Amino acid sequence: MSNRKLKVGVVGLTVGASHVKDYASSDTVKEIVLCDVDESRLKEIGYKYNIIKKYTDFDKMLKEENLDAISLSVPNFLHMRLSIQAMEAGVHVLCEKPMARNAAEARKMLEAAQKHNKKLMINFNQRFLHECQTLKSVIDEGKLGDIYYVRTLWQRRRGVPWWYPLSSGKEVCGGGALIDLGVHVLDRAMWFCGYPDPDWVLGNTFCKVSKDEAARKGIQNFELEDMGVAMFRMKGGVMLELEASWASNRENEVITTRIYGSKGGAVLHRVVGDGNAASNKLFLEIGGEVQDIPLDDKIISKMPNVRQAFLDAIVNDEEVPCTPQQGLKITQMLDMVYLSAENGTPVQFE
Ligand SMILES: NC(=O)c1ccc[n+]([C@@H]2O[C@H](COP(=O)([O-])OP(=O)(O)OC[C@H]3O[C@@H](n4cnc5c(N)ncnc54)[C@H](O)[C@@H]3O)[C@@H](O)[C@H]2O)c1
Repeated sequence: MSNRKLKVGVVGLTVGASHVKDYASSDTVKEIVLCDVDESRLKEIGYKYNIIKKYTDFDKMLKEENLDAISLSVPNFLHMRLSIQAMEAGVHVLCEKPMARNAAEARKMLEAAQKHNKKLMINFNQRFLHECQTLKSVIDEGKLGDIYYVRTLWQRRRGVPWWYPLSSGKEVCGGGALIDLGVHVLDRAMWFCGYPDPDWVLGNTFCKVSKDEAARKGIQNFELEDMGVAMFRMKGGVMLELEASWASNRENEVITTRIYGSKGGAVLHRVVGDGNAASNKLFLEIGGEVQDIPLDDKIISKMPNVRQAFLDAIVNDEEVPCTPQQGLKITQMLDMVYLSAENGTPVQFE
């Protein structure tokens, strides 16, 4: 373990505030610098964490501060441009999900990381939840056997993030519910399965329930999907189903991943709101009977924090846990879903 301490910038201070919170409590951070085009956000977060250095101009911050690393928590259309600029300036990057608006952008980011020999980590923070870490260790022990079917979803009843600049459609966000929420549950499902290569996908997107609400908010011709669904066939035969919605006619918001393996199964299921009721279980055949085993009873010794994992990878010069190659693969899979929806046909992975 290295004792090196890092100077870290946080760019974009809405969700970025959670990055500041983690860095402020990390022994690996010697100084934090803030950047946001919104002066009120700068002032609020600067005051809360007693941070003096604040910038409204990203270029100026890069030029003046000699940073080791940045967290990038800005709207999706800025991920590629700002992360490449930072890596060119010799700065490691933790980029919020989704990696980019599409695979072409994600590939350029990966190439920049390789060219400038910088760490580029994607903030797939769901993987760092206790239940995900525990299930991953159970899978890695071989307890579920061969995984052959996974269903992963994040479904909201009503929860379009209207504070995003949604009127600009794909230009700013790259997509709707799939790229915003689906990306998280797709990443965790892929991580559980060892990130296999996709072969085929059949998908579709819908905007069936949010148009009126969009119009009431002054957004005419709202075009982003409020729901998207897809079924992937992976090379090797694993089937993976994905569902994501910002708005749909159903019960409360849920985040669920269900795994079927030859020796056992598992479900991670969380109802969002109402106390965040969770039901995380393994299904293992013991003594000729399938038994339900609460996953939460299993203890894992070390619970990493996503931001600390990024810092550790820098100071120990190790591979980041959520790699740009994985971020690119997820972006490619979402591109395939959008193409399948547009063409009305299955799409093969290139
Ligand atoms: N990991 C998660 O759980 C999670 C949750 C929500 C959002 N996100 C991701 O985080 C990113 C930001 O989402 P958000 O909800 O915070 O969005 P937001 O629009 O609420 O906030 C973005 C912030 O970036 C600032 N900003 C915009 N342009 C800038 C620039 N050029 N330089 C500096 N600051 C700039 C804005 O002023 C704003 O404060 C998105 O990519 C989103 O997908 C991740």
